[in-house]
Amino acid sequence: MWRGHSCPRLLPDDESQTVNPSQLAQHFETLFGQKPAIYRAPGRVNLIGEHTDYNDGFVMPAAIAFSTYVAIAPRSDRKLSIRSGEFAGAHEFSLDNFPDKRTGLWCDYILGVASVLNKRGYELKGANLLIHGEVPIGAGLSSSAAIEVASALALLGPSRQQIPLPQIAKLCRQAENEFVGARVGIMDQFVSCMGKAGHALLLDCRSLEFKFAPIPAGIQIVVCNTMVKHELASNAYNTRREQCEEGIRFFSKRDPAIRALRDVSIEMLNEHTKDLPGAVFNRCSHVIHENQRTLNTARALGEGNLDRVRDLMNKSHRSLRDLYEVSCKELDIMVECAQDLPGFCGGRMTGGGFGGCTVNLVREENANEFAASIAERYQAKTGITPHTYLCSAEDGAQQVS
Ligand code: GLA
Repeated sequence: MWRGHSCPRLLPDDESQTVNPSQLAQHFETLFGQKPAIYRAPGRVNLIGEHTDYNDGFVMPAAIAFSTYVAIAPRSDRKLSIRSGEFAGAHEFSLDNFPDKRTGLWCDYILGVASVLNKRGYELKGANLLIHGEVPIGAGLSSSAAIEVASALALLGPSRQQIPLPQIAKLCRQAENEFVGARVGIMDQFVSCMGKAGHALLLDCRSLEFKFAPIPAGIQIVVCNTMVKHELASNAYNTRREQCEEGIRFFSKRDPAIRALRDVSIEMLNEHTKDLPGAVFNRCSHVIHENQRTLNTARALGEGNLDRVRDLMNKSHRSLRDLYEVSCKELDIMVECAQDLPGFCGGRMTGGGFGGCTVNLVREENANEFAASIAERYQAKTGITPHTYLCSAEDGAQQVS
């Protein structure tokens, strides 16, 4: 059986913590009697630019070493037979009679991708699939994008060479929007496809133009999992989107060139402090300032100005807590616990919120001690034992064998 979702630490070169594709292939052969091809897609951590992607804004995520693996081999009929290393049972679906809405099963993300590919005219063939996920579920590290992207690559097989990876990212997001019903933006799928080792990716979510931003030498990404699952987040997420849309309707009446909150300047926002319902104003204010913070962080990282990065990450967290209202007590405590630890260069909640993880930039020589100390402090304050992951930025999705 494969490693579950509870590995306490992910060290960059700790072989025991990573999936061995040959073990996955063996498991597949035992189940299906065939040799599979294996595809991998990573989860992500977002350094800054939160809840900006669906507002046509800027984000700066990095792919991390937790991945989802999909092993696949063809069948002679037109069925998909799907199994998992973590969840019991096998699920079979006919490609000719496919569900077009979520089923409530764990394999919905794969079904969603298959359904979108089908609808877009990609010729899918019957196949056996075995999934192994190592991205912690409900931790805000994009286990859903990882399974979507790995499944898309597996289902498309060699024909995927014709399709650019950003297009795959869009198809996967469509699956999550239309089939699963979560109105997510493009960030997670994009970085899962396009991530690059040692780099974060500064993405313009309107044009999908991007630049790689090197993680400064000597800096380690430390991800701290509050262990609070963000299970109830999806309704709140969709509500935030509606509030942003209300903001766009307001501003575009004043200037028809405005298509998204991305187009609203800080000056224009400030002219209307009293004209919008308080919550809607606050949501808009977060998004508009967060876009600016993201661009500023990219610049500060490039200049090696870590004091500025720290200030911007702190402001981002406070804005998510007070204006966008997607933090929670445990995330706030985790952020607080980091502040005066040696080597700390900036931290904030990461991902959609309501639980999940914080992301921290820490000097390499202090990273181990940082992880141990923050865990101790957090446990003392909450009674919860957190997981900490020492991560590096990794490459995006690929075929592994
Ligand atoms: C989730 C979504 C992303 C993004 C973040 C918040 O991770 O999948 O598209 O909106 O929340 O930044």
